Amino acid sequence: MRAEPLTATIGAELFDVSLADAARDDALFGGIKELLLKYKVLFLRDQAISRADHVAFASRFGALEDHPVAGSDPDHPGLVRIYKDLDSPPEHYENAWHCDATWRDSPPMGCVLRCIEGPAVGGDTIWVNMAKAYADLPEHIKAQIEGLYARHSIEATFGANMPIEQRHALKARFPDAEHPVVRTHPETGEKVLFVSGFATHFTNFHTPANVHYGQDYAPGAGQLLAWLIGRAAIPEYQVRWRWTPNSVAIWDNRCTQHYAVQDYWPAVRKMERAGIIGDKPF
Ligand code: SIN
Repeated sequence: MRAEPLTATIGAELFDVSLADAARDDALFGGIKELLLKYKVLFLRDQAISRADHVAFASRFGALEDHPVAGSDPDHPGLVRIYKDLDSPPEHYENAWHCDATWRDSPPMGCVLRCIEGPAVGGDTIWVNMAKAYADLPEHIKAQIEGLYARHSIEATFGANMPIEQRHALKARFPDAEHPVVRTHPETGEKVLFVSGFATHFTNFHTPANVHYGQDYAPGAGQLLAWLIGRAAIPEYQVRWRWTPNSVAIWDNRCTQHYAVQDYWPAVRKMERAGIIGDKPF
């Protein structure tokens, strides 16, 4: 197995390895896991593996989870279908910068995404290194966000287009989660900027240190949150992957965000994602 970095900051492409073999081989799997911690997202092409092998490989990292809004393959629980076609019109946005499922108390530790069918051109995905985004913050911002928490909501994102009863039912099943704005990666110890498209507001910003008069709160907190979320858009922290059928991305969801570029409609794009249950961020 050979790894070639794709940028100076994040991402490497793996060669001479099959994920079907890695699902059964401890040493091979261990090597991939080590590279994942180093590069944060790994890419492979020509992985004509079965759905069972996709699930078996991803399950080496931990148990898989379904998604309450995107359905899973009926024969392979945990293999979420992200299928877009003519019936997925571009008026409804597909994506924002996000770390997967941070509306869960314990968001996924990572994901394995395989392209089943894709447009001839377009539909790339971009990943961003949020440990680098944190490390580059000005010191006064690091001091300001130390100890801050943010609320993350499925209701305000996946639920926003639902009738109110359905939205409330979704929220009852998945109450908003609260996570530190800066989390520590449980394996590398890196500090990571951990707010993205699911974060709605800070929960402990409204203190005398931050809010002198009441009306300071909403703009002060909102602008800081939007500015922090916007750091994901900095090209120097990113890698962009052009999909081909049977290409695969494996990412560490604890220290990255991603964005699927929505530029291909009316072409079909079919992706299958195995999300691996993670720990509670600290
Ligand atoms: C995701 O947002 O998890 C999927 C990304 C993609 O479809 O490229």
